[in-house]
Amino acid sequence: MATITYLPQNITHEALVGDSILDVALANGLDLQHNCGGVCACSTCHVIVKQGMDSLTEMEDDEADQLDEAEGLTLQSRLGCQSRITKEVDIIVEIPQLNPAIAHLFHEGATAD
Ligand code: FES
Repeated sequence: MATITYLPQNITHEALVGDSILDVALANGLDLQHNCGGVCACSTCHVIVKQGMDSLTEMEDDEADQLDEAEGLTLQSRLGCQSRITKEVDIIVEIPQLNPAIAHLFHEGATAD
């Protein structure tokens, strides 16, 4: 059994090999945005992997292209919907806190006013 700890909430959930970071978050009621529904067509599921990067699936070109749009991009950034667990290890990810001035733009159902 793998685990994923989500920061800054510091909440840990069990996960299975093959689960995505987004799958586990949503199954446990965590507020990880996913405006495109998990099909690699936005960057709202951006997470920063603090531990366990080598236990996630490799990044594909589509994911890298979408990540370029993410606020607060780092070398440890991944899209939660595209990052699937490959090993039974303890993974730690941070959900970046959006700038409050633009956070409303990233929530599901947001409209361009
Ligand atoms: S939910 Fe849109 S890219 Fe992950």
